[in-house]
Amino acid sequence: MIRAICLVGGYGVGLIQTAYIYGRIKGVDIRKYGSGNAGTTNALRVLGKKAGLIVFLGDFLKGIIACSLTHIILGQLGIGNAYMFVLYTGLGVVLGHNFPFYMQFKGGKGIAASGGMIVGLWDWRLVVILLAAFVISVVITRYVSVGSLTIMIGFFILYTVFAIHGDYNFTSNAKMIEGIIMAGIIAGMAVIRHWQNIKRLIAGTENKLSFGSKKA
Ligand code: G3P
Repeated sequence: MIRAICLVGGYGVGLIQTAYIYGRIKGVDIRKYGSGNAGTTNALRVLGKKAGLIVFLGDFLKGIIACSLTHIILGQLGIGNAYMFVLYTGLGVVLGHNFPFYMQFKGGKGIAASGGMIVGLWDWRLVVILLAAFVISVVITRYVSVGSLTIMIGFFILYTVFAIHGDYNFTSNAKMIEGIIMAGIIAGMAVIRHWQNIKRLIAGTENKLSFGSKKA
């Protein structure tokens, strides 16, 4: 029951699709330009820096707020295994962001929302290490998609290491394994959503980081 509430509540929050809403306000369906993705990188690419910042903050904050609320409510109710349940909320947010029913299920790739989920997990080590890994990989390659994949694969590895190390106070090994599986599902979904980016990276045709240049 708790899992279902986290998933459905997260999905509801994830439906606030900042790139699509901001684009519509500006008279643009973001999904018809640039990479066609309704997310921060494409908003930056198609609509410029201000749009990129607003879209990032909207998607990032929804992950932070939904997951932090889950942490707080579970704590208030004295329910354990928060580090596992928060991932259900995070998965819900990402599903709502990636597959919003009111946009014919054609949303984004869920990286800013996942970043918010990572902050909302309340483990500062994840935030510091993954932020550094993202910045370094994007500065070196100039591909945001490489940074996104680095964050998500790194998240799964670090979560697994910290969970096995006993840092997340699971009440049983089964709950720990469930948490690790959830982290794997979230990271795996990000990889699948980046499949076209991966194919372009291999072919050498992936879009480098650019600002507001591809609208028409
Ligand atoms: O977070 C999305 C990013 O990794 C790739 O975006 O628009 O280049 O497909 P895009």
